[in-house]
Amino acid sequence: MTMSEKKLKVVVGISGGIAAYKAVGVARDLVLAGHDVQIVATESALRFVGAPTLEAISHNQVYSDLFEGVAEVRHVAIGQSADVIVVAPATANMIARLAVGLADDLLSTTILASRAPLVLAPAMHTEMWQHPSTVANVAILKQRGATIVGPASGRLTGSDTGPGRMAEPEEIAAAVIAAAAAGPNRHDLEGKRVLVTAGGTREPLDPVRFVGNRSTGRQGAALAAAAANRGASVTLIGANLETEIPASSEFVAVSSATELFETVQARVSDFDLVIMAAAVADYRPAEVEQSKIKKEFAGEELNLRMVKNPDILASISRDRRAGQIIVGFAAETEPDDSALLEIARGKLERKGCDFLVVNRVGWSEGFATDGNTVTVLDRSGNIVLATSGSKLSVANSILDVLH
Ligand code: CTP
Repeated sequence: MTMSEKKLKVVVGISGGIAAYKAVGVARDLVLAGHDVQIVATESALRFVGAPTLEAISHNQVYSDLFEGVAEVRHVAIGQSADVIVVAPATANMIARLAVGLADDLLSTTILASRAPLVLAPAMHTEMWQHPSTVANVAILKQRGATIVGPASGRLTGSDTGPGRMAEPEEIAAAVIAAAAAGPNRHDLEGKRVLVTAGGTREPLDPVRFVGNRSTGRQGAALAAAAANRGASVTLIGANLETEIPASSEFVAVSSATELFETVQARVSDFDLVIMAAAVADYRPAEVEQSKIKKEFAGEELNLRMVKNPDILASISRDRRAGQIIVGFAAETEPDDSALLEIARGKLERKGCDFLVVNRVGWSEGFATDGNTVTVLDRSGNIVLATSGSKLSVANSILDVLH
């Protein structure tokens, strides 16, 4: 577990299928990753795998009965305290019950009492998986934000093979951690169009060299992923990203500040929210050599003349249409907190954007790290957010305050 990852409270739900024995591996992987695991099994699950095994692996008592622990309203207590819930295996019956919101045992009531992200790992026979009822139920759950992991295709319980095998425990555990990081199942950005720029621009000197910066684009990519997860339709314009591109966003690749400027200008009016997380070069070499600069011609010293790039953020802020929200970023090396805020307030004023996300950068701070610490200022320079965490959780906190 890295510093930026918090210990999660994971509810591992087990419904009754042969793959229930593999749920032991899911619980084990999550416990070994440092998370707190509470197992809630259906009665039929406990006919496939014994409670003592599950208790030994999870280090917690296993719950199954709705009529035990009534005084503490157990399903509400477990459901509300969960950071994430996974059901592995999720049988066709369990999926059907969740799709209609039935609450007739501890696991289904726990899930209904929770707003935590839900991950389902279906396991069933191929015919059952492909039955129109199951297909429709899975579609409903997906549309409500559940993450479906698998099923894999392979050997089933009988002698036949096909899709229906539960995904492997490592894959399920990874999906659980990713779903928790993406935050609660909110669909508060449904219908919104969001443009995010990310990465660092490169200003060419000659066909093989450029002037660049150390931005990897991770915070911008996390913002795009988080916004898409919350229902927005997202376009990510990436300059030289050194991070995974979220599959949930439309992606446009650019390289120089000029290209970024032209791409943003052409598209910006389509969006409700524009987040300029890219580190844009303020200057570019005045002349770009068409062939490689050679030291035998350049001699002992090479002087670069740079000219100013257009300020994209200032330009789109000036031209924004009514209702459009524009967010800028400021990466600063100033060590003193109040001086940093003064610089940020000046920048907010100059750029004219609605919000400014400020973070401190340095030789070892800010770039290519999993975590981030940011302060967000509104138009009047008031602090509306100060937070630290993984780049994905910071992204969600930023999206929370952009109204
Ligand atoms: N930005 C931009 N176009 C530029 C330079 C910056 O759109 N040519 C945007 C960045 O994407 C970021 C914000 O402006 O959202 C702040 O960038 P920064 O480089 O910190 O601001 P500058 O105005 O260049 O100020 P400084 O003198 O501190 O470099």
